[in-house]
Amino acid sequence: EKGNYRHFMAKEIHEQPEVIARTLGHYIDVGAGSIRDDTIPVDFSEVSRLSITACGTAYYAGLVARHWFERLARLPVDLDVASEFRYRAQIHPADELPLFISQSGETADTLASLRACKAAGQRLATIVNVPTSTMAREANVVLPTLAGPEIGVASTKAFTCQLATLAALAVKAGVDRGVLTRDNARGFVDGLVEAPRAVADVLHLEAEIERIARIIAPASTALFMGRGPSMAVALEGALKLKELSYIHAEGFAAGELKHGPIALVDDTVPVIVVAPFDDLFTKTVSNMEEIAARGGRIIAVTDARGAHAIGTTAEEMIVLPDAPAFIAPLVMTIPLQLLAYYAAIINGTDVDQPRNLAKSVTVE
Ligand code: M6R
Repeated sequence: EKGNYRHFMAKEIHEQPEVIARTLGHYIDVGAGSIRDDTIPVDFSEVSRLSITACGTAYYAGLVARHWFERLARLPVDLDVASEFRYRAQIHPADELPLFISQSGETADTLASLRACKAAGQRLATIVNVPTSTMAREANVVLPTLAGPEIGVASTKAFTCQLATLAALAVKAGVDRGVLTRDNARGFVDGLVEAPRAVADVLHLEAEIERIARIIAPASTALFMGRGPSMAVALEGALKLKELSYIHAEGFAAGELKHGPIALVDDTVPVIVVAPFDDLFTKTVSNMEEIAARGGRIIAVTDARGAHAIGTTAEEMIVLPDAPAFIAPLVMTIPLQLLAYYAAIINGTDVDQPRNLAKSVTVE
């Protein structure tokens, strides 16, 4: 049921504070400031490599998480889209943990990849939202996202709950591998616990984001860029916009700007820059200046500290509340969902059921 919302997507965007909190509550002992061992039955001290496979938005969750596993747990991560992974000459080391991420748990390519690893004798884990799905049945370790049924074809709450689950998993990996002390882990857990409130704060900016969507809606191309985990968020933002509004959108690593995408920049092209005030911020601002110098229309998604430094380089800024850097990908995703949602409404497209798309891609 849509309740008071116009679309399932709007309802699902607004459910995020609640479902992220529910998902985190499953993996985190908030009182103790630690990860709950009982809900993550993986000992990462026995894992020397993680292999993440998924499609679409779920793949972008993996792309964010690679940064977390490397930084917090010094755990090497292989990552691929399932349609590529399944046809590669796969290598299945015994000390590798394959991890498959899927909202539906039925995506054909992801399931085929899972089965290939299983046939090779690997113990494997899956992050799924549908607990009765085929992938949940076939995996050795099932890590549920507790987002509840997602009806909108464009994934929103499933993605942020995947991020919440992956973040908890990365903290656990850090502790298991002796990279994080209990105190370090508590710092990350405390940051994670702030995510639902931070996401709720972003939702209060909805009217402002709707106004900014009017810049994007008439465009025929939009660019999204960021660095580090924000690159993955930019890719997800571009996917959301193209799915919902049918505007051509391309996401890329901000550092790639001069290697090609800058040729597309002119005063008709909105460039959405995901720029939290993190250790890569000044690099991203340099890229913004290069775009501004060529007349590009920058919409910066940043936080209060970032906004101060960006100043007039951006035509528009969506200024999010300051949040721990660790949870920035979760927080920065929300305005991109809303931009895509409102651009679609302005363009009159079918928000919950965009043309040519299926909720669950069960044939390749
Ligand atoms: O059910 P899954 O998470 O395996 O689905 C993967 C993709 O098909 C899915 O994320 C798709 O990209 C969405 N339409 C994105 O909004």
